[in-house]
Amino acid sequence: MKQSTSKQVLTIFYISLIVNILLTVIKLTFGYLYKSQSLLSDGFNSLADILVSMGLILTMKIATKAPDFDHPYGHQKYEGVTFLTLGFVILLTGGFIGYDGLMTIINKTTSIPSKEAIIVASAVLMLKLFVAILNYKGAKKYNTPTLKADSVNHISDAFVTLFVLISVALYHLTGLYIEHIVSLIIGIFVIKTALSLLKEGLSYLVDEVPSVEFYDQVRDEILKIPGVIQIDMLKMRKHVNYIYIDAEIGVHDYLSLKKAHDISEKVHDHIETTFENVLHIMIHVNPVKEKDMEYIKLNNGMLIPMVGMGTNTFGKIGNEFGGEINMDTKELLMAYDNGYRLIDTAIMYRNEAVIGKSLKETKIGRDEIFVTSKISTKGLDFNHIESIKNKIDQSLVDVGSYIDIYLIHHPSEKNEENLILWNILIEYYKENKFKAIGVSNFNVEQLTYLINHSKVKPMINQIESNPSRWNHEIIKFCIKNDIVPEAWGPLDPVPNKDLLLEIGKKYNKSWAQVLLRYQLQRGVVVIPKSHNNMRQQENINIFDFRLTQADIDLIEN
Ligand SMILES: NC(=O)c1ccc[n+]([C@@H]2O[C@H](COP(=O)([O-])OP(=O)(O)OC[C@H]3O[C@@H](n4cnc5c(N)ncnc54)[C@H](OP(=O)(O)O)[C@@H]3O)[C@@H](O)[C@H]2O)c1
Repeated sequence: MKQSTSKQVLTIFYISLIVNILLTVIKLTFGYLYKSQSLLSDGFNSLADILVSMGLILTMKIATKAPDFDHPYGHQKYEGVTFLTLGFVILLTGGFIGYDGLMTIINKTTSIPSKEAIIVASAVLMLKLFVAILNYKGAKKYNTPTLKADSVNHISDAFVTLFVLISVALYHLTGLYIEHIVSLIIGIFVIKTALSLLKEGLSYLVDEVPSVEFYDQVRDEILKIPGVIQIDMLKMRKHVNYIYIDAEIGVHDYLSLKKAHDISEKVHDHIETTFENVLHIMIHVNPVKEKDMEYIKLNNGMLIPMVGMGTNTFGKIGNEFGGEINMDTKELLMAYDNGYRLIDTAIMYRNEAVIGKSLKETKIGRDEIFVTSKISTKGLDFNHIESIKNKIDQSLVDVGSYIDIYLIHHPSEKNEENLILWNILIEYYKENKFKAIGVSNFNVEQLTYLINHSKVKPMINQIESNPSRWNHEIIKFCIKNDIVPEAWGPLDPVPNKDLLLEIGKKYNKSWAQVLLRYQLQRGVVVIPKSHNNMRQQENINIFDFRLTQADIDLIEN
């Protein structure tokens, strides 16, 4: 609590103290003079309130002291101790008043209250209402539990005085004497207030958990942060009117320490700003192994998923490569839901903006999805570098602020032109607009030229690979040179489906799954495309079996 705020809270307590002294004197004096038993009982109640006010002032002074070496979490818990002490004092007062009322009923002794007691009770009620409202407003404004507790006490006192007023008035209007019953009721009221103070005080001292609703709200807000896959542990404890939270969150194990730290920072800031009463959230990050995906490391250290989604007919009318773009993202969102995190597009597919739209629509964090795009050498004007850059810039606009992997789609027959384009890609890579760069459809000779003429080696070579054209030679060359081979068209054309089906029977897998698994086992990334939900799921469900060498020999021959 700020120093200025604690001063204002103390002022309210001092006013309460003065009013309580005044009320005690008035009630006891006039209760005795006008022979009103209920006014006298109420006077003893106010006497206890003086103790309450003094205790609260003392508590506020201690509880608002700044944290020190011996009390690094501050002194707020002293409020709990005071609550308990005051609770016991008020409990005794309530017991005394109630006992007195009960004895009067049993012994049938009555003392007739005079009319003047009505005026006194009315004045007392006004004063009580004044401090009750003052405390209530203060409690709301400064969010202080002691003020809140005190305002509850004042409100219950106001009710007590109201009962007194009614009972004395009733006697003088109808002759009905109920003051001893009212004394008993007042006693019960006071005991009830004492019990609620005791309960609240205890909750401050025993690290009670906040409500289930609050727990659920915090859990939901943590899960909203992109990158948080799961919550492994969530504990909360009340620290007087604040809350401390301990959380263990799960993030992908392939993320860098920096990224994992950034995610935990986001969770920390989000929770502490969303919930004003959360004093601190401590976050521990657990690495979570992606059960449904295998990853491969590029030569720049970046890990990418080994199964991706081809998209060359996505977002187009009739699912035709040449079809008009309709911006339909349904297959992409389906792919994300099915676990695909590597997406393959290209300028030539005309659907980079469809990919960009899907990235905005999905709840999955942008840094969890790897987008590949490509620029072809075909049709480029190598005498106007700016025109080439304009095309690349448009890719960036369409996909979003950055692209994970950018490839030269098709090589030029002239190695010099490939090198010019490659150097442009390097520029963007160094500016962090691309996280990785590579080529596509390059043969051994074209790759060798780039390797020999550039300091940056391509990280990927995307080439056709399926049973009709395995492209074994270039794949071997890539693996030897630390360039990840990526197979386009991995499922088409496939002339030997029967053989693959036969192999798949042992594993309860389809011909397509056997083929994709084969590529994975030899270190080739695959990007099969499917518009169909079942086939999308089938193509990514290939991490729970391993082909034997005999299977591989059969497939390759
Ligand atoms: N770099 C390049 O020069 C280049 C060239 C071509 C393609 N590519 C990229 O590579 C991606 C994949 O290549 P691709 O689309 O040509 O061929 P593909 O993925 O090998 O095959 C796609 C065809 O196979 C079907 N299919 C998918 N999964 C299947 C399964 N489990 N069982 C039976 N049939 C299945 C699909 O039909 P349904 O949709 O009905 O499931 C679709 O007709 C392209 O989308 C594109 O992103 C790159």
